[in-house]
Amino acid sequence: MSVFHIAIDGPVSAGKGTVSRLVAEKLGFLYVDTGAMYRMTALLCKNHQVDLADESAVVALVKAAKMEMRNPSELERDSRLTTVLLDGEDVSWKIRTEEISAGASKVATLTEVRKVLVEKQQEIAANQNVIMEGRDITYRVLPQAQLKIYLTASDSVRAERRHLQLQMRGENVAFEDVYRDTIERDQRDMTRGADPLQIVSDAWVVDTTDFEIEKVVEMIVTKAKVIMANSTSHNS
Ligand code: DC
Repeated sequence: MSVFHIAIDGPVSAGKGTVSRLVAEKLGFLYVDTGAMYRMTALLCKNHQVDLADESAVVALVKAAKMEMRNPSELERDSRLTTVLLDGEDVSWKIRTEEISAGASKVATLTEVRKVLVEKQQEIAANQNVIMEGRDITYRVLPQAQLKIYLTASDSVRAERRHLQLQMRGENVAFEDVYRDTIERDQRDMTRGADPLQIVSDAWVVDTTDFEIEKVVEMIVTKAKVIMANSTSHNS
């Protein structure tokens, strides 16, 4: 059986998670949030008191860890987009704090850590249909994906979305701080020595600034179905 892969890259808070979750549900695919794996890495460092800059120690932790993701079960539907298990423990919410976000952004600059996580991501996708999102999926993790998307939105809309998300989680942060942090995180993603965020030439660039999420989901589902139908007719 051949598998179908949708790869999505894009900057912070472009809507990648929400869109991917909904597309995954409509197509019956597994949604893989690769950012969660960088977040789990930061959590591992915190739990084991390992310095985020100590690359070989961080790599050893990641290699030994079991990182799993699954679509949330009925009982787990508490507005999470995915259920994240680290060595069997449900850490879906533990990895969403601002402290872990900052740590994830730092470990994501380590070349060897990226290598190990990319391998884990490729293993997950090897035998199943996935919609996988992150910052290097279209060109590093799944360069052969049948559908590649670069999802983006204006800086202010992305900062507004993040601000709202944090408020809903009870984190009281000023909008100006969220805006500054969003821009700083983009800078780090785009200037990172190891695999900087980029737009590949065959990516479909989708700007979500003026679109409702539902509209974006519908566009992606339609496009995926067309590609799937074409590849089936060519193979038969
Ligand atoms: O998407 P996110 O905020 O959960 O990602 C957490 C961090 O991991 C963020 O700093 C970007 C980084 N990341 C990455 O470098 N490569 C990926 N494929 C996914 C996330």
